[in-house]
Amino acid sequence: MAKLWIESEPLNKFSDAVRTLRESLFAHISDIENPLIITSSPHRGDGCTTLTANLAGAIGQSGKRVLLIDGDLNGEGLGDYFQHESNGGFVKIIEGGDVQAVSSGIENLDILPCGIPKGNKHPFDSPRVIDLLQKYRKGYDIVIIDTAPILESSDPVVLGKHASGIILVFRAGNFQREDELVARELLERSGIKIIGAVINGVREQDQDPYYTYQRHLEMNRK
Ligand SMILES: Nc1ncnc2c1ncn2[C@@H]1O[C@H](COP(=O)(O)OP(=O)(O)OP(=O)(O)O)[C@@H](O)[C@H]1O
Ligand SMILES: [Mg+2]
Repeated sequence: MAKLWIESEPLNKFSDAVRTLRESLFAHISDIENPLIITSSPHRGDGCTTLTANLAGAIGQSGKRVLLIDGDLNGEGLGDYFQHESNGGFVKIIEGGDVQAVSSGIENLDILPCGIPKGNKHPFDSPRVIDLLQKYRKGYDIVIIDTAPILESSDPVVLGKHASGIILVFRAGNFQREDELVARELLERSGIKIIGAVINGVREQDQDPYYTYQRHLEMNRK
């Protein structure tokens, strides 16, 4: 049983903003075949996984087949959002294990937990990652990887190299302009396209998250 706000509270502001984000994303990636999207944020606790899980669910609700991969080796996992068996996950597959993505409980949405590396090699550096992601892209309309914070880990850049682009999730009241500049520079230097920036946790009276997302999206279209 999934525990996503877009399922349990589909009419609240958060869920509505997520659907708007989904539609902006669709417009942005309409000409990309089998898009692969990375999500990250500057810091832990910014709400990246919450946003990503709900976005993936909203994409599934729209009828598109979506795979959500947990690519955060040190994160809390997807257990708060989906009930799933612990099957070794993405890392086990990279290491050669026979593991499949599992159903999330939401129509059209499969999930792949992250898992724990066995060896002392960084799993995302493996050349197998490229083939695996290519395979997943062919099997779904869209693949999304939730990753570690970009200011704390190289993983968003390492995985982002294989992606169509990245969505950055900022937490209202918890980011400096400097964070955004450093994140942008890191991504631009690696040739990773920023396809959207979201301000999560905006209080209704402060700002309209829809506007913020649109503003960034327009900026990145140039
Ligand atoms: N818009 C929101 N409104 C209320 N609570 C939120 C919102 N977004 C996230 N949270 C809460 O904030 C906490 C951190 O969120 P989340 O785990 O998604 O962050 P994260 O950026 O993925 O962190 P980590 O890097 O540790 O994985 C969770 O308890 C989550 O329920
Ligand atoms: Mg997370």
